[in-house]
Amino acid sequence: MLKNKMCVTRWVLAMVALHVAVVHSWDIAIGVKDQLIFYTNGIKTSSINLISQNPTSLVYDELHNMMLYVDKQNNNDAVCGYDLSSKDNKCFIKRNGRNIQGLAFDPVTEIIFFTDTKEKSINWFSLKPGCNNNVYGNLLIKSDSKIPADIAVDSCGGYIYWTYKEGPIERARFNGSERKVEFSNSWSQFSIFVDQQIKKLFYFDVCNSCTNNNGWLQYRRFNDSSTYVYLSNFYGTQCRSKVLTVSKDYVYWKNSTGSYDSIWQLSKTAKQYVEPKEINKIYDDKILGIVANYKIQDQAKGLEDCEALSSLIPKLTVPPGYTGEQTNVSACDNYCFNGNCSFNGEGIPKCRCNAGYSGQRCEINVCYNYCLNDGECSLNEEDEPTCQCAGDHAGVRCETGTSDTPPSTPPTNALAKRNLTINDLLSSWRKSNSKMYLTVEV
Ligand SMILES: *[C@@H]1O[C@H](CO)[C@@H](O)[C@H](O)[C@H]1NC(C)=O
Ligand SMILES: *[C@@H]1O[C@H](CO)[C@@H](O)[C@H](O)[C@H]1NC(C)=O
Ligand SMILES: *[C@@H]1O[C@H](CO)[C@@H](O)[C@H](O)[C@H]1NC(C)=O
Ligand SMILES: *[C@@H]1O[C@H](CO)[C@@H](O)[C@H](O)[C@H]1NC(C)=O
Ligand SMILES: *[C@@H]1O[C@H](CO)[C@@H](O)[C@H](O)[C@H]1NC(C)=O
Ligand SMILES: *[C@@H]1O[C@H](CO)[C@@H](O)[C@H](O)[C@H]1NC(C)=O
Repeated sequence: MLKNKMCVTRWVLAMVALHVAVVHSWDIAIGVKDQLIFYTNGIKTSSINLISQNPTSLVYDELHNMMLYVDKQNNNDAVCGYDLSSKDNKCFIKRNGRNIQGLAFDPVTEIIFFTDTKEKSINWFSLKPGCNNNVYGNLLIKSDSKIPADIAVDSCGGYIYWTYKEGPIERARFNGSERKVEFSNSWSQFSIFVDQQIKKLFYFDVCNSCTNNNGWLQYRRFNDSSTYVYLSNFYGTQCRSKVLTVSKDYVYWKNSTGSYDSIWQLSKTAKQYVEPKEINKIYDDKILGIVANYKIQDQAKGLEDCEALSSLIPKLTVPPGYTGEQTNVSACDNYCFNGNCSFNGEGIPKCRCNAGYSGQRCEINVCYNYCLNDGECSLNEEDEPTCQCAGDHAGVRCETGTSDTPPSTPPTNALAKRNLTINDLLSSWRKSNSKMYLTVEV
């Protein structure tokens, strides 16, 4: 026998993850040419072709799992949506000869708010089924002289905030009432983002009359009038783009050198004048819009005063733990071999094993090859394996009175106790969503 040669038998459990699915979660998406490009941790993970060129003013509507954008190819005269689940792409707001610029979505009322720089107006359009909508959109606020630019929504407080090309920032109720100047200076704020979780208003403040178009990346708290500066002295036109977006942890924006556009990332908790991180460069084709995947769940987390948003969480199209902007396949599907799956707080699948099974994915049958010498295995009250020995064999595992050499310790991993057939492997691969468990004897 091999034993005589002091051969050590050892089992190696190798897990081979085969990347086959187009299943990704994403941190940010950008619009370039006729594409939406998705990134996770700064790495491009997928892209989608749109029906039109040049998607700008990207907004993610998590409720319908849809990317909203303004169609720049047709002179910004339409608002379109790409449904990430059904891959349906259509435009629902159309105003010929006008210029749609700022875009925002309130998931609570399912209303799209948008600015029109030619008409100098703030408008709305409902995505609620059955809502009698005008494809032109509905006028909410008409400005007499100033040109509105970007717009943002505070779903918790029930306000829209918008900027003008020449300042100031204003706010109003969703129905246009209680309109007031939030704060003003002589500068321009082109991009604006309302972070409901930390009650801050992010924007770029740009000096139009300064030779270098100096700009400041700033924020304000809802409840005070001080201005806080993250970064100052941007040069060039980058501060004029509508490309500021905010996620759970970061602020993102882009700037341009002329030959390429860069995406920048800065922690929301960064101190003043901390150098941001460049997470990607796009050559040749300009970045037209950036949007972060700031989950409603994260926006509403722990907020006692935001029932409006928290109540949406159960009906979201891509619930926590589901992977991907393009799929409704749950990470829990087929995850646990012999048990029930649920998600922990971070959206990671976890198994609760049926009696008699253990292991991270309940892949281990605790009885498998546990009893030696034809002993019969069953579970005791604590669901631990126990042996009913055959003949005159005895011992916890019926190991005595036998020519078989008992193992000194039971194998730590029950998978290591069995010889898998190719069918086992294939079935394991299928069951585990393209992960293959391989048991190798050396
Ligand atoms: C507008 O909305 C506010 C708050 O949501 C409400 O108090 C007010 O009555 C509304 N005004 C009109 C004219 O509907
Ligand atoms: C504004 O709110 C923040 C956080 O809720 C708090 O720390 C701060 O003291 C408040 N500021 C004022 C002026 O009330
Ligand atoms: C873009 O922003 C980065 C980070 O703030 C800065 O270092 C760089 O000089 C900017 N580039 C241009 C061309 O404005
Ligand atoms: C995913 O969506 C498709 C089409 O909407 C549906 O037929 C299928 O049942 C869904 N699958 C799951 C696991 O929800
Ligand atoms: C798994 O779910 C089923 C159905 O809800 C339940 O009867 C069973 O007790 C659960 N098993 C475990 C191990 O939680
Ligand atoms: C696995 O296969 C080897 C070689 O064929 C055999 O000696 C061994 O008994 C098998 N082990 C089990 C648990 O079936």
